[in-house]
Amino acid sequence: MTTPRVLDGNAIASQIKAEVAAEVEQLAVQGIRPGLAAVLVGNVPASEIYVRSKVRTSGQLGIFSDLITPPDTVTTEEMLELVAQLNAREDIDGILIQLPLPKQVNAKLLLEAVSPAKDVDGFHPVNVGRLQAGQPGLVPCTPAGMIQMLKRSNLPIAGQNAVVIGRSDIVGKPISILLLHENATVSICHSKTRDLGSYTRNADILVAAIGRPGYVTPDLVKRGATILDVGINRVTTREEFDKYFAGDAKREEMFVLKGSTIVGDVHPEAFKASGAYTPVPGGVGPLTIAMLMANTVRAAKLRRG
Ligand code: GUN
Repeated sequence: MTTPRVLDGNAIASQIKAEVAAEVEQLAVQGIRPGLAAVLVGNVPASEIYVRSKVRTSGQLGIFSDLITPPDTVTTEEMLELVAQLNAREDIDGILIQLPLPKQVNAKLLLEAVSPAKDVDGFHPVNVGRLQAGQPGLVPCTPAGMIQMLKRSNLPIAGQNAVVIGRSDIVGKPISILLLHENATVSICHSKTRDLGSYTRNADILVAAIGRPGYVTPDLVKRGATILDVGINRVTTREEFDKYFAGDAKREEMFVLKGSTIVGDVHPEAFKASGAYTPVPGGVGPLTIAMLMANTVRAAKLRRG
């Protein structure tokens, strides 16, 4: 069996960020500094880590950022008022509202209130519709990053059988449409799919975006397939660790040191049958932030370039 190729998300994200930084320099000549507003509500630890990383990366690339942190008691009305202010601000090109939001906040209403021109997450119905219609405006960051991953790794998409497991608005649906636009033959599978393996065993490109640790087992993988694993699942117990990583000395070290590690939606054993795969961590994750930066610069150019 040949050794699968590990798709290095950090390396590809670095390339994209370097390109974005060059664009930021170009805009500076015209006196434009792209600006990102990052809204982080309450104290969700994972969201705090993600948002701080987004703010830090903005700074590294010369993008202005404003971190806004409403308390977790914030109301829908207060959030709508905040979004209205951000929509009106000349120095803000992109508005990012980190999900999930507290349950008293009407997330749907809020995402619809963001100006489509500043919707760097690509969640507004106008941008969802443009993507569907094949005239993409701002495209959701994780799926956009996954396409970059395939293209920059010279992996074919056109004519390939692509199977997406998961139908979320953030990943499953938009990656399915992007793959379709790239002329893949796309199947979307989900928790109600009967005989998942009959689909996945034909998948040249397999996307796992279901949020269940180690869900994709070796028997589901076509030999030589490209696997994109979007799952981020925390492993905290020894029992779970051994289920996924028994005998993996490097992981063991990380687990003992930090008291936890991360497993994707793909069981590590399942990667062994693949031709290429994105590891977790260090695969798709870094690209999400790189594409957010790219979207922010794109929004700045479209609005004031
Ligand atoms: N929560 C999980 N993923 C995302 C994302 O891509 N954008 C935002 N805003 N929140 C998220």
